[in-house]
Amino acid sequence: MISEEIEKLLNEGASKAGYEEKLSVSFSNMPKLCDYQCNGCFALAKKYSKKPFDIASEIANSIEQSDLFEFDVAMPAFINIKLTDKALSKIANEYLNDEMGGVEKHKERQKVILDYGGANVAKALHVGHLRSPIIGESLKRLYKLMGDDVIADVHLGDWGLQMGLTELQLYEDGVLDYYFKGEGEEPVITLDMLNEAYPKASARKKDDEKFKEEADAWTLKIQNKEQPYYSIYKKIREVSVKEIKKHYGELGATFDLWYGESDAAPYIDRAIKIIEDKGLTRESDGALVVDVAVEGENIPLPKKSEDEEQRYKNPMPPAILKKYNGGVLYATTDIATILMRNEMYKNVDRIEYIVDMRQKNHFVQVFRVCKMSGISPEEQELLHIGYGTMNGKDGKPFKTRSGDTIKLEDIINMLVEKAGDKLKSNGVEYDRDLALKIGVAAMKFGDLINNVDKDYVFDLDKFISFEGKTGPYIQYTAVRINSILNKANLEGGEFFISNDEEREIIRSILKLNSSYEICYKEKSLSSLCSATYNLASAFSTFYNNHSVLNESNINIKQSYISLLRLVKNKLKQALNVLAIEIPEKM
Ligand code: ARG
Repeated sequence: MISEEIEKLLNEGASKAGYEEKLSVSFSNMPKLCDYQCNGCFALAKKYSKKPFDIASEIANSIEQSDLFEFDVAMPAFINIKLTDKALSKIANEYLNDEMGGVEKHKERQKVILDYGGANVAKALHVGHLRSPIIGESLKRLYKLMGDDVIADVHLGDWGLQMGLTELQLYEDGVLDYYFKGEGEEPVITLDMLNEAYPKASARKKDDEKFKEEADAWTLKIQNKEQPYYSIYKKIREVSVKEIKKHYGELGATFDLWYGESDAAPYIDRAIKIIEDKGLTRESDGALVVDVAVEGENIPLPKKSEDEEQRYKNPMPPAILKKYNGGVLYATTDIATILMRNEMYKNVDRIEYIVDMRQKNHFVQVFRVCKMSGISPEEQELLHIGYGTMNGKDGKPFKTRSGDTIKLEDIINMLVEKAGDKLKSNGVEYDRDLALKIGVAAMKFGDLINNVDKDYVFDLDKFISFEGKTGPYIQYTAVRINSILNKANLEGGEFFISNDEEREIIRSILKLNSSYEICYKEKSLSSLCSATYNLASAFSTFYNNHSVLNESNINIKQSYISLLRLVKNKLKQALNVLAIEIPEKM
Protein backbone atom coordinates (compact mmCIF):
# COMPACT_ATOMS: atom_id res chain seq x y z
CA MET A 1 0.00 0.00 0.00
CA ILE A 2 1.22 3.50 -0.87
CA SER A 3 0.51 4.94 2.57
CA GLU A 4 2.60 2.16 4.12
CA GLU A 5 5.51 2.90 1.76
CA ILE A 6 5.35 6.56 2.72
CA GLU A 7 5.15 5.74 6.41
CA LYS A 8 8.22 3.55 6.10
CA LEU A 9 10.29 6.41 4.65
CA LEU A 10 8.84 8.85 7.15
CA ASN A 11 9.64 6.67 10.15
CA GLU A 12 13.15 5.97 8.93
CA GLY A 13 13.64 9.73 8.71
CA ALA A 14 12.15 10.29 12.15
CA SER A 15 14.37 7.61 13.62
CA LYS A 16 17.44 9.22 12.04
CA ALA A 17 16.40 12.51 13.61
CA GLY A 18 16.12 10.73 16.97
CA TYR A 19 12.38 10.05 17.25
CA GLU A 20 11.34 6.42 17.62
CA GLU A 21 7.58 7.06 17.98
CA LYS A 22 5.59 5.67 15.04
CA LEU A 23 4.22 8.29 12.69
CA SER A 24 1.37 7.70 10.28
CA VAL A 25 -0.09 9.49 7.28
CA SER A 26 -3.59 10.13 6.01
CA PHE A 27 -5.04 11.57 2.84
CA SER A 28 -4.43 15.28 2.63
CA ASN A 29 -7.08 17.74 3.77
CA MET A 30 -5.81 20.03 1.03
CA PRO A 31 -5.56 17.92 -2.09
CA LYS A 32 -4.40 20.93 -4.11
CA LEU A 33 -1.29 21.14 -1.96
CA CYS A 34 -0.31 17.53 -1.45
CA ASP A 35 -1.61 13.96 -1.49
CA TYR A 36 -0.90 12.77 2.05
CA GLN A 37 -0.14 14.48 5.31
CA CYS A 38 1.39 13.59 8.66
CA ASN A 39 0.03 15.36 11.73
CA GLY A 40 2.22 13.53 14.24
CA CYS A 41 4.71 16.30 15.00
CA PHE A 42 2.35 18.07 17.39
CA ALA A 43 2.34 15.15 19.78
CA LEU A 44 6.13 14.81 19.53
CA ALA A 45 6.50 18.51 20.31
CA LYS A 46 4.58 18.09 23.56
CA LYS A 47 6.60 15.09 24.56
CA TYR A 48 10.00 16.63 23.78
CA SER A 49 9.06 20.22 24.70
CA LYS A 50 10.22 21.53 21.34
CA LYS A 51 8.57 23.68 18.69
CA PRO A 52 6.38 21.47 16.47
CA PHE A 53 7.61 23.16 13.31
CA ASP A 54 11.23 22.45 14.23
CA ILE A 55 10.52 18.78 14.74
CA ALA A 56 8.69 18.58 11.42
CA SER A 57 11.68 20.20 9.69
CA GLU A 58 14.19 17.93 11.41
CA ILE A 59 12.27 14.87 10.29
CA ALA A 60 11.62 16.10 6.76
CA ASN A 61 15.31 16.88 6.32
CA SER A 62 16.31 13.42 7.45
CA ILE A 63 14.06 11.59 5.00
CA GLU A 64 15.90 9.91 2.18
CA GLN A 65 15.31 11.62 -1.18
CA SER A 66 13.17 9.62 -3.57
CA ASP A 67 11.86 10.23 -7.07
CA LEU A 68 8.45 8.96 -6.00
CA PHE A 69 7.57 11.17 -3.04
CA GLU A 70 8.24 14.81 -2.18
CA PHE A 71 8.24 15.60 1.54
CA ASP A 72 7.59 19.18 2.60
CA VAL A 73 6.91 21.02 5.83
CA ALA A 74 3.95 23.39 6.14
CA MET A 75 2.79 25.67 8.95
CA PRO A 76 2.10 25.06 11.72
CA ALA A 77 3.82 21.65 11.63
CA PHE A 78 2.51 19.35 8.96
CA ILE A 79 4.68 17.11 6.89
CA ASN A 80 3.10 17.15 3.45
CA ILE A 81 3.72 14.41 0.96
CA LYS A 82 3.21 14.72 -2.75
CA LEU A 83 3.32 11.83 -5.19
CA THR A 84 5.46 12.53 -8.22
CA ASP A 85 4.24 11.75 -11.73
CA LYS A 86 6.60 8.84 -11.69
CA ALA A 87 4.87 7.47 -8.58
CA LEU A 88 1.38 8.02 -9.97
CA SER A 89 2.31 6.27 -13.22
CA LYS A 90 3.98 3.41 -11.39
CA ILE A 91 0.90 2.90 -9.21
CA ALA A 92 -1.38 2.84 -12.24
CA ASN A 93 0.75 0.28 -14.07
CA GLU A 94 0.91 -1.91 -10.97
CA TYR A 95 -2.83 -1.77 -10.43
CA LEU A 96 -3.40 -2.67 -14.07
CA ASN A 97 -1.49 -5.88 -13.60
CA ASP A 98 -3.03 -6.76 -10.25
CA GLU A 99 -6.18 -8.86 -10.16
CA MET A 100 -7.50 -6.83 -7.21
CA GLY A 101 -6.46 -3.52 -8.76
CA GLY A 102 -4.51 -2.57 -5.65
CA VAL A 103 -7.17 -3.45 -3.08
CA GLU A 104 -5.62 -5.60 -0.38
CA LYS A 105 -7.35 -8.54 1.21
CA HIS A 106 -7.17 -8.95 4.97
CA LYS A 107 -4.49 -11.30 6.19
CA GLU A 108 -6.90 -12.92 8.60
CA ARG A 109 -9.96 -14.50 7.11
CA GLN A 110 -13.10 -14.37 9.25
CA LYS A 111 -16.08 -16.65 9.04
CA VAL A 112 -19.22 -14.52 8.89
CA ILE A 113 -22.92 -15.32 8.69
CA LEU A 114 -24.98 -12.51 7.25
CA ASP A 115 -28.68 -12.49 8.02
CA TYR A 116 -30.52 -10.21 5.60
CA GLY A 117 -33.62 -10.18 3.44
CA GLY A 118 -35.95 -11.41 6.16
CA ALA A 119 -39.14 -11.38 4.10
CA ASN A 120 -42.24 -12.83 5.73
CA VAL A 121 -44.09 -15.79 4.30
CA ALA A 122 -47.80 -15.19 3.58
CA LYS A 123 -47.41 -11.43 3.73
CA ALA A 124 -46.83 -9.35 0.61
CA LEU A 125 -43.29 -8.01 0.36
CA HIS A 126 -43.34 -4.33 1.10
CA VAL A 127 -41.03 -1.36 1.16
CA GLY A 128 -39.70 -2.38 4.59
CA HIS A 129 -38.06 -5.34 2.86
CA LEU A 130 -36.14 -3.23 0.40
CA ARG A 131 -33.19 -1.86 2.34
CA SER A 132 -32.14 -5.13 3.94
CA PRO A 133 -31.46 -7.05 0.70
CA ILE A 134 -29.76 -3.99 -0.81
CA ILE A 135 -27.42 -3.31 2.10
CA GLY A 136 -26.94 -6.98 2.98
CA GLU A 137 -26.00 -8.03 -0.52
CA SER A 138 -23.37 -5.29 -0.76
CA LEU A 139 -21.89 -5.99 2.66
CA LYS A 140 -21.63 -9.64 1.68
CA ARG A 141 -19.76 -8.76 -1.50
CA LEU A 142 -17.52 -6.32 0.36
CA TYR A 143 -16.61 -8.86 3.05
CA LYS A 144 -15.87 -11.47 0.40
CA LEU A 145 -13.68 -9.07 -1.54
CA MET A 146 -11.72 -8.37 1.64
CA GLY A 147 -11.18 -12.09 2.11
CA ASP A 148 -13.88 -13.20 4.54
CA ASP A 149 -15.71 -16.47 4.26
CA VAL A 150 -19.34 -15.33 4.14
CA ILE A 151 -22.58 -17.29 4.33
CA ALA A 152 -25.73 -15.38 3.41
CA ASP A 153 -28.97 -16.54 5.00
CA VAL A 154 -32.31 -14.97 4.02
CA HIS A 155 -33.94 -15.97 7.33
CA LEU A 156 -37.55 -15.84 6.18
CA GLY A 157 -40.21 -15.00 8.71
CA ASP A 158 -42.17 -18.22 8.44
CA TRP A 159 -43.00 -19.42 11.96
CA GLY A 160 -45.13 -16.65 13.44
CA LEU A 161 -48.70 -15.61 13.98
CA GLN A 162 -49.17 -14.53 10.36
CA MET A 163 -49.38 -18.22 9.37
CA GLY A 164 -52.24 -18.94 11.76
CA LEU A 165 -53.99 -15.71 10.78
CA THR A 166 -53.72 -16.45 7.06
CA GLU A 167 -54.81 -20.06 7.33
CA LEU A 168 -57.74 -19.27 9.58
CA GLN A 169 -58.89 -16.54 7.18
CA LEU A 170 -58.59 -18.88 4.19
CA TYR A 171 -60.60 -21.45 6.16
CA GLU A 172 -63.33 -18.95 6.95
CA ASP A 173 -63.45 -17.88 3.32
CA GLY A 174 -64.18 -21.49 2.40
CA VAL A 175 -60.92 -22.05 0.53
CA LEU A 176 -59.90 -24.96 2.76
CA ASP A 177 -63.17 -26.95 2.72
CA TYR A 178 -61.46 -29.82 0.94
CA TYR A 179 -59.20 -30.42 3.96
CA PHE A 180 -61.63 -29.76 6.77
CA LYS A 181 -65.00 -30.82 5.35
CA GLY A 182 -63.85 -33.28 2.75
CA GLU A 183 -65.71 -31.29 0.10
CA GLY A 184 -64.74 -30.49 -3.47
CA GLU A 185 -61.29 -30.68 -4.95
CA GLU A 186 -57.94 -29.92 -3.41
CA PRO A 187 -57.54 -26.13 -3.82
CA VAL A 188 -54.63 -24.47 -5.55
CA ILE A 189 -53.50 -21.75 -3.18
CA THR A 190 -52.51 -18.66 -5.13
CA LEU A 191 -50.60 -15.52 -4.33
CA ASP A 192 -53.77 -13.48 -4.84
CA MET A 193 -55.50 -15.52 -2.15
CA LEU A 194 -52.68 -14.82 0.28
CA ASN A 195 -52.55 -11.15 -0.61
CA GLU A 196 -56.21 -10.92 0.24
CA ALA A 197 -56.32 -13.20 3.28
CA TYR A 198 -53.46 -11.84 5.36
CA PRO A 199 -54.36 -8.12 5.37
CA LYS A 200 -57.98 -9.04 6.10
CA ALA A 201 -57.00 -11.25 9.05
CA SER A 202 -54.44 -8.80 10.30
CA ALA A 203 -57.03 -6.02 10.42
CA ARG A 204 -59.55 -8.29 12.15
CA LYS A 205 -57.21 -9.40 14.91
CA LYS A 206 -56.94 -5.83 16.11
CA ASP A 207 -60.46 -5.68 17.52
CA ASP A 208 -61.64 -9.26 17.44
CA GLU A 209 -60.11 -10.91 20.50
CA LYS A 210 -61.76 -14.26 19.79
CA PHE A 211 -60.40 -14.35 16.27
CA LYS A 212 -56.94 -13.50 17.56
CA GLU A 213 -57.07 -16.34 20.11
CA GLU A 214 -58.24 -18.73 17.45
CA ALA A 215 -55.38 -17.64 15.18
CA ASP A 216 -52.95 -18.21 18.08
CA ALA A 217 -54.32 -21.74 18.38
CA TRP A 218 -53.93 -22.36 14.63
CA THR A 219 -50.38 -21.06 14.77
CA LEU A 220 -49.59 -23.45 17.58
CA LYS A 221 -51.04 -26.36 15.58
CA ILE A 222 -48.79 -25.46 12.67
CA GLN A 223 -45.79 -25.16 14.99
CA ASN A 224 -46.65 -28.60 16.39
CA LYS A 225 -46.86 -29.89 12.81
CA GLU A 226 -50.46 -31.10 13.21
CA GLN A 227 -52.26 -32.13 10.04
CA PRO A 228 -53.76 -30.78 7.89
CA TYR A 229 -52.62 -27.43 9.33
CA TYR A 230 -48.98 -28.13 8.68
CA SER A 231 -49.30 -29.35 5.10
CA ILE A 232 -51.49 -26.37 4.20
CA TYR A 233 -48.83 -24.17 5.72
CA LYS A 234 -46.20 -25.84 3.54
CA LYS A 235 -48.24 -24.95 0.46
CA ILE A 236 -48.62 -21.34 1.56
CA ARG A 237 -44.90 -21.17 2.18
CA GLU A 238 -44.10 -22.54 -1.25
CA VAL A 239 -46.25 -19.97 -3.08
CA SER A 240 -44.81 -17.15 -0.99
CA VAL A 241 -41.18 -18.17 -1.32
CA LYS A 242 -41.48 -18.37 -5.08
CA GLU A 243 -42.60 -14.75 -5.13
CA ILE A 244 -39.90 -13.65 -2.68
CA LYS A 245 -37.21 -15.33 -4.78
CA LYS A 246 -38.44 -13.55 -7.86
CA HIS A 247 -38.33 -10.07 -6.33
CA TYR A 248 -35.09 -10.51 -4.44
CA GLY A 249 -33.63 -11.88 -7.67
CA GLU A 250 -34.69 -8.72 -9.51
CA LEU A 251 -32.91 -6.69 -6.87
CA GLY A 252 -29.79 -8.79 -7.41
CA ALA A 253 -29.84 -10.27 -3.89
CA THR A 254 -28.67 -13.88 -3.77
CA PHE A 255 -28.48 -16.18 -0.77
CA ASP A 256 -26.52 -19.29 0.11
CA LEU A 257 -29.24 -20.42 2.48
CA TRP A 258 -32.95 -20.07 1.98
CA TYR A 259 -33.70 -20.97 5.59
CA GLY A 260 -36.47 -19.53 7.64
CA GLU A 261 -37.46 -19.37 11.28
CA SER A 262 -39.12 -22.76 10.77
CA ASP A 263 -35.75 -24.39 10.09
CA ALA A 264 -34.73 -23.54 13.62
CA ALA A 265 -37.80 -25.33 15.02
CA PRO A 266 -35.88 -28.59 15.69
CA TYR A 267 -33.44 -26.59 17.84
CA ILE A 268 -36.02 -24.77 19.96
CA ASP A 269 -36.49 -27.35 22.73
CA ARG A 270 -32.76 -27.78 23.11
CA ALA A 271 -32.12 -24.05 23.17
CA ILE A 272 -34.76 -23.61 25.86
CA LYS A 273 -33.26 -26.46 27.88
CA ILE A 274 -29.80 -24.88 27.74
CA ILE A 275 -31.27 -21.60 28.98
CA GLU A 276 -33.32 -23.31 31.71
CA ASP A 277 -30.36 -25.40 32.87
CA LYS A 278 -28.44 -22.18 33.45
CA GLY A 279 -31.30 -21.08 35.71
CA LEU A 280 -32.09 -18.08 33.55
CA THR A 281 -35.83 -18.56 33.00
CA ARG A 282 -38.89 -17.70 35.06
CA GLU A 283 -42.62 -17.84 34.57
CA SER A 284 -44.62 -14.69 34.03
CA ASP A 285 -48.41 -14.84 33.50
CA GLY A 286 -48.06 -18.31 32.07
CA ALA A 287 -45.28 -17.27 29.70
CA LEU A 288 -41.66 -18.39 29.91
CA VAL A 289 -39.31 -15.41 30.05
CA VAL A 290 -35.65 -14.51 30.56
CA ASP A 291 -34.68 -11.32 32.37
CA VAL A 292 -32.08 -9.43 30.39
CA ALA A 293 -32.28 -5.98 31.97
CA VAL A 294 -29.04 -4.35 33.01
CA GLU A 295 -28.95 -2.20 36.14
CA GLY A 296 -29.25 1.50 35.38
CA GLU A 297 -30.13 1.04 31.72
CA ASN A 298 -33.10 3.03 30.45
CA ILE A 299 -34.99 2.12 27.33
CA PRO A 300 -37.02 4.97 25.89
CA LEU A 301 -40.51 3.87 25.00
CA PRO A 302 -41.12 4.12 21.27
CA LYS A 303 -44.26 6.23 21.58
CA LYS A 304 -44.82 9.44 23.46
CA SER A 305 -46.47 8.66 26.76
CA GLU A 306 -48.58 10.78 29.08
CA ASP A 307 -45.74 11.10 31.51
CA GLU A 308 -42.78 12.16 29.39
CA GLU A 309 -40.31 11.58 32.21
CA GLN A 310 -41.46 8.02 32.70
CA ARG A 311 -40.86 7.40 29.02
CA TYR A 312 -37.11 7.31 29.59
CA LYS A 313 -37.15 5.25 32.76
CA ASN A 314 -37.76 1.73 31.61
CA PRO A 315 -35.61 -1.34 31.98
CA MET A 316 -35.07 -3.63 28.97
CA PRO A 317 -38.13 -5.89 28.98
CA PRO A 318 -37.56 -9.65 29.43
CA ALA A 319 -37.17 -11.87 26.38
CA ILE A 320 -40.23 -14.08 25.93
CA LEU A 321 -39.42 -17.66 24.94
CA LYS A 322 -42.90 -19.15 25.18
CA LYS A 323 -46.36 -17.61 25.14
CA TYR A 324 -49.18 -18.41 27.57
CA ASN A 325 -50.34 -21.17 25.19
CA GLY A 326 -46.91 -22.68 24.65
CA GLY A 327 -46.42 -21.08 21.25
CA VAL A 328 -42.99 -19.74 20.41
CA LEU A 329 -42.12 -16.23 19.30
CA TYR A 330 -39.75 -14.19 17.19
CA ALA A 331 -37.08 -14.11 19.91
CA THR A 332 -37.31 -17.89 20.43
CA THR A 333 -36.67 -18.71 16.78
CA ASP A 334 -33.84 -16.20 16.60
CA ILE A 335 -32.16 -17.75 19.64
CA ALA A 336 -32.65 -21.27 18.27
CA THR A 337 -31.25 -20.10 14.93
CA ILE A 338 -28.02 -19.01 16.61
CA LEU A 339 -27.76 -22.46 18.19
CA MET A 340 -28.39 -24.03 14.78
CA ARG A 341 -25.81 -21.85 13.05
CA ASN A 342 -23.18 -22.65 15.63
CA GLU A 343 -23.80 -26.37 15.27
CA MET A 344 -23.89 -26.36 11.48
CA TYR A 345 -20.86 -24.14 11.01
CA LYS A 346 -17.94 -24.36 13.36
CA ASN A 347 -15.99 -21.32 14.55
CA VAL A 348 -18.23 -18.59 13.25
CA ASP A 349 -16.49 -15.31 14.10
CA ARG A 350 -19.41 -12.97 13.49
CA ILE A 351 -23.13 -13.10 12.89
CA GLU A 352 -24.52 -9.86 11.52
CA TYR A 353 -28.17 -8.93 11.11
CA ILE A 354 -29.16 -6.30 8.60
CA VAL A 355 -32.55 -5.39 9.99
CA ASP A 356 -34.57 -2.22 10.55
CA MET A 357 -33.21 -0.10 13.38
CA ARG A 358 -36.58 -0.24 15.08
CA GLN A 359 -35.85 -3.86 16.01
CA LYS A 360 -32.91 -2.80 18.15
CA ASN A 361 -34.35 -3.99 21.46
CA HIS A 362 -35.29 -7.35 20.01
CA PHE A 363 -31.68 -8.00 19.08
CA VAL A 364 -30.36 -6.76 22.40
CA GLN A 365 -32.65 -9.29 24.09
CA VAL A 366 -31.73 -12.15 21.77
CA PHE A 367 -27.99 -11.47 21.96
CA ARG A 368 -28.02 -11.21 25.75
CA VAL A 369 -29.86 -14.50 26.15
CA CYS A 370 -27.37 -16.20 23.80
CA LYS A 371 -24.35 -14.79 25.63
CA MET A 372 -25.75 -15.49 29.12
CA SER A 373 -26.58 -19.07 28.20
CA GLY A 374 -23.43 -19.75 26.20
CA ILE A 375 -25.44 -20.54 23.03
CA SER A 376 -23.13 -17.99 21.44
CA PRO A 377 -19.51 -18.46 22.55
CA GLU A 378 -17.90 -15.50 24.26
CA GLU A 379 -15.53 -14.66 21.41
CA GLN A 380 -18.30 -14.61 18.79
CA GLU A 381 -19.49 -11.22 17.69
CA LEU A 382 -23.26 -10.77 17.35
CA LEU A 383 -24.14 -7.55 15.64
CA HIS A 384 -27.33 -5.82 14.62
CA ILE A 385 -26.72 -3.43 11.73
CA GLY A 386 -29.86 -1.35 12.06
CA TYR A 387 -30.88 0.70 9.06
CA GLY A 388 -32.96 3.86 8.94
CA THR A 389 -36.28 4.38 7.25
CA MET A 390 -36.90 5.17 3.62
CA ASN A 391 -39.08 8.25 3.68
CA GLY A 392 -41.27 9.98 1.14
CA LYS A 393 -40.67 13.61 0.15
CA ASP A 394 -42.85 14.66 3.09
CA GLY A 395 -40.24 13.22 5.46
CA LYS A 396 -42.59 10.47 6.65
CA PRO A 397 -42.17 6.74 5.94
CA PHE A 398 -42.79 6.15 2.24
CA LYS A 399 -46.45 5.24 1.62
CA THR A 400 -48.91 5.08 -1.24
CA ARG A 401 -51.10 8.09 -1.88
CA SER A 402 -53.92 6.48 0.07
CA GLY A 403 -51.60 5.94 3.02
CA ASP A 404 -51.02 2.19 2.60
CA THR A 405 -47.62 0.58 2.76
CA ILE A 406 -46.12 0.21 -0.68
CA LYS A 407 -45.53 -3.25 -2.05
CA LEU A 408 -42.06 -4.11 -3.21
CA GLU A 409 -43.49 -5.12 -6.54
CA ASP A 410 -44.90 -1.62 -7.03
CA ILE A 411 -41.52 -0.08 -6.29
CA ILE A 412 -39.82 -2.34 -8.79
CA ASN A 413 -42.42 -1.41 -11.39
CA MET A 414 -41.88 2.27 -10.68
CA LEU A 415 -38.12 1.86 -11.16
CA VAL A 416 -38.58 0.03 -14.44
CA GLU A 417 -41.04 2.59 -15.72
CA LYS A 418 -38.89 5.61 -14.86
CA ALA A 419 -35.76 4.03 -16.30
CA GLY A 420 -37.72 3.06 -19.41
CA ASP A 421 -38.80 6.69 -19.92
CA LYS A 422 -35.21 7.82 -19.55
CA LEU A 423 -34.04 5.31 -22.14
CA LYS A 424 -36.73 6.39 -24.57
CA SER A 425 -35.82 10.05 -24.21
CA ASN A 426 -32.20 9.10 -24.91
CA GLY A 427 -33.29 7.32 -28.06
CA VAL A 428 -32.46 3.84 -26.80
CA GLU A 429 -34.92 1.10 -27.66
CA TYR A 430 -36.98 -0.03 -24.65
CA ASP A 431 -36.11 -3.36 -23.14
CA ARG A 432 -37.44 -4.41 -19.72
CA ASP A 433 -34.22 -6.09 -18.62
CA LEU A 434 -32.22 -3.01 -19.48
CA ALA A 435 -34.71 -0.72 -17.72
CA LEU A 436 -34.62 -3.00 -14.67
CA LYS A 437 -30.81 -2.83 -14.52
CA ILE A 438 -30.85 0.94 -14.61
CA GLY A 439 -33.81 1.33 -12.26
CA VAL A 440 -32.30 -1.01 -9.71
CA ALA A 441 -28.94 0.77 -9.97
CA ALA A 442 -30.71 4.07 -9.29
CA MET A 443 -32.45 2.65 -6.24
CA LYS A 444 -29.37 0.96 -4.82
CA PHE A 445 -27.00 3.84 -5.24
CA GLY A 446 -29.61 6.27 -3.87
CA ASP A 447 -29.84 4.05 -0.82
CA LEU A 448 -26.23 2.98 -0.28
CA ILE A 449 -24.71 6.45 -0.56
CA ASN A 450 -26.41 7.27 2.75
CA ASN A 451 -25.02 6.03 6.02
CA VAL A 452 -26.85 2.86 6.89
CA ASP A 453 -28.34 4.18 10.11
CA LYS A 454 -29.70 7.38 8.56
CA ASP A 455 -33.21 7.84 7.18
CA TYR A 456 -33.31 9.05 3.60
CA VAL A 457 -35.81 10.38 1.12
CA PHE A 458 -36.86 8.21 -1.79
CA ASP A 459 -36.55 10.70 -4.61
CA LEU A 460 -36.79 8.66 -7.76
CA ASP A 461 -36.36 11.58 -10.17
CA LYS A 462 -33.07 12.44 -8.51
CA PHE A 463 -31.92 8.81 -8.22
CA ILE A 464 -32.58 8.02 -11.87
CA SER A 465 -30.78 11.03 -13.34
CA PHE A 466 -27.89 10.27 -15.68
CA GLU A 467 -25.97 13.13 -14.11
CA GLY A 468 -24.74 13.74 -10.59
CA LYS A 469 -24.21 11.30 -7.76
CA THR A 470 -26.39 8.53 -9.11
CA GLY A 471 -26.13 4.89 -10.04
CA PRO A 472 -27.08 5.51 -13.69
CA TYR A 473 -24.35 8.18 -14.02
CA ILE A 474 -21.72 5.64 -12.99
CA GLN A 475 -23.23 2.98 -15.23
CA TYR A 476 -23.21 5.49 -18.04
CA THR A 477 -19.53 6.27 -17.47
CA ALA A 478 -18.67 2.57 -17.62
CA VAL A 479 -20.75 2.09 -20.78
CA ARG A 480 -18.99 5.02 -22.40
CA ILE A 481 -15.53 3.65 -21.55
CA ASN A 482 -16.48 0.27 -22.97
CA SER A 483 -17.63 1.90 -26.16
CA ILE A 484 -14.39 3.89 -26.57
CA LEU A 485 -12.32 0.79 -25.94
CA ASN A 486 -14.31 -1.12 -28.55
CA LYS A 487 -13.95 1.65 -31.11
CA ALA A 488 -10.23 2.09 -30.47
CA ASN A 489 -9.60 -1.64 -30.74
CA LEU A 490 -6.01 -1.09 -29.65
CA GLU A 491 -3.70 -2.80 -27.14
CA GLY A 492 -2.85 -0.59 -24.20
CA GLY A 493 0.77 0.34 -23.57
CA GLU A 494 2.84 1.52 -20.63
CA PHE A 495 0.86 4.20 -18.81
CA PHE A 496 2.52 7.54 -18.14
CA ILE A 497 1.05 10.78 -16.86
CA SER A 498 0.73 13.46 -19.51
CA ASN A 499 -1.83 15.83 -18.03
CA ASP A 500 -3.55 17.05 -14.85
CA GLU A 501 -6.78 15.21 -15.49
CA GLU A 502 -4.88 11.92 -15.38
CA ARG A 503 -3.27 12.87 -12.07
CA GLU A 504 -6.76 13.45 -10.69
CA ILE A 505 -7.92 10.05 -11.92
CA ILE A 506 -5.08 8.15 -10.25
CA ARG A 507 -5.62 10.08 -7.04
CA SER A 508 -9.33 9.17 -7.07
CA ILE A 509 -8.34 5.55 -7.56
CA LEU A 510 -6.11 5.69 -4.49
CA LYS A 511 -9.04 7.04 -2.49
CA LEU A 512 -11.44 4.55 -3.98
CA ASN A 513 -9.13 1.71 -2.97
CA SER A 514 -8.88 2.94 0.58
CA SER A 515 -12.66 3.33 0.84
CA TYR A 516 -13.12 -0.45 0.95
CA GLU A 517 -11.45 -0.61 4.33
CA ILE A 518 -13.45 2.35 5.59
CA CYS A 519 -16.70 0.65 4.52
CA TYR A 520 -15.58 -2.59 6.13
CA LYS A 521 -15.06 -0.82 9.43
CA GLU A 522 -18.18 1.35 9.20
CA LYS A 523 -20.39 -1.47 7.88
CA SER A 524 -21.86 1.03 5.48
CA LEU A 525 -21.25 1.48 1.75
CA SER A 526 -21.44 5.23 1.78
CA SER A 527 -17.69 5.93 1.33
CA LEU A 528 -17.43 3.49 -1.55
CA CYS A 529 -20.37 5.17 -3.32
CA SER A 530 -18.83 8.63 -2.99
CA ALA A 531 -15.37 7.46 -4.04
CA THR A 532 -16.82 5.66 -7.06
CA TYR A 533 -18.68 8.78 -8.07
CA ASN A 534 -15.49 10.84 -7.70
CA LEU A 535 -13.63 8.50 -10.00
CA ALA A 536 -16.41 8.58 -12.60
CA SER A 537 -16.45 12.33 -12.39
CA ALA A 538 -12.64 12.61 -12.70
CA PHE A 539 -12.89 10.42 -15.77
CA SER A 540 -15.55 12.64 -17.33
CA THR A 541 -13.33 15.68 -16.86
CA PHE A 542 -10.48 13.85 -18.57
CA TYR A 543 -12.76 12.73 -21.37
CA ASN A 544 -14.10 16.23 -21.98
CA ASN A 545 -10.58 17.58 -22.36
CA HIS A 546 -8.80 14.87 -24.31
CA SER A 547 -9.82 12.83 -27.26
CA VAL A 548 -8.62 9.29 -26.90
CA LEU A 549 -9.64 8.16 -30.37
CA ASN A 550 -8.12 11.15 -32.18
CA GLU A 551 -4.83 11.22 -30.32
CA SER A 552 -2.06 11.25 -32.95
CA ASN A 553 0.88 10.33 -30.71
CA ILE A 554 0.72 6.54 -30.56
CA ASN A 555 2.53 6.31 -27.21
CA ILE A 556 0.07 8.68 -25.61
CA LYS A 557 -2.84 6.92 -27.27
CA GLN A 558 -1.71 3.55 -25.92
CA SER A 559 -1.19 5.08 -22.51
CA TYR A 560 -4.76 6.45 -22.67
CA ILE A 561 -6.06 3.02 -23.53
CA SER A 562 -4.37 1.59 -20.45
CA LEU A 563 -5.83 4.34 -18.33
CA LEU A 564 -9.30 3.57 -19.67
CA ARG A 565 -8.84 -0.09 -18.91
CA LEU A 566 -7.79 0.72 -15.38
CA VAL A 567 -10.75 3.04 -14.78
CA LYS A 568 -13.07 0.44 -16.26
CA ASN A 569 -11.68 -2.27 -13.95
CA LYS A 570 -11.97 -0.06 -10.91
CA LEU A 571 -15.57 0.94 -11.72
CA LYS A 572 -16.45 -2.66 -12.40
CA GLN A 573 -15.01 -3.81 -9.09
CA ALA A 574 -16.87 -1.10 -7.17
CA LEU A 575 -20.16 -1.68 -8.99
CA ASN A 576 -19.81 -5.37 -8.35
CA VAL A 577 -19.65 -4.73 -4.61
CA LEU A 578 -22.65 -2.41 -4.91
CA ALA A 579 -24.37 -5.22 -6.85
CA ILE A 580 -25.02 -2.86 -9.75
CA GLU A 581 -24.74 -4.28 -13.25
CA ILE A 582 -23.13 -2.50 -16.17
CA PRO A 583 -25.57 -2.47 -19.12
CA GLU A 584 -24.48 -3.07 -22.72
CA LYS A 585 -25.91 0.28 -23.78
CA MET A 586 -27.70 3.24 -22.27
N1 ARG B 1 -38.96 -11.24 9.30
C1 ARG B 1 -38.46 -10.12 10.04
C2 ARG B 1 -39.31 -8.89 9.76
O1 ARG B 1 -39.95 -8.80 8.75
C3 ARG B 1 -37.03 -9.81 9.74
C4 ARG B 1 -36.07 -10.93 10.04
C5 ARG B 1 -34.71 -10.43 10.37
N2 ARG B 1 -33.81 -11.46 10.79
C6 ARG B 1 -33.79 -12.04 11.98
N3 ARG B 1 -32.96 -12.99 12.21
N4 ARG B 1 -34.62 -11.65 12.93
O2 ARG B 1 -39.32 -7.99 10.56
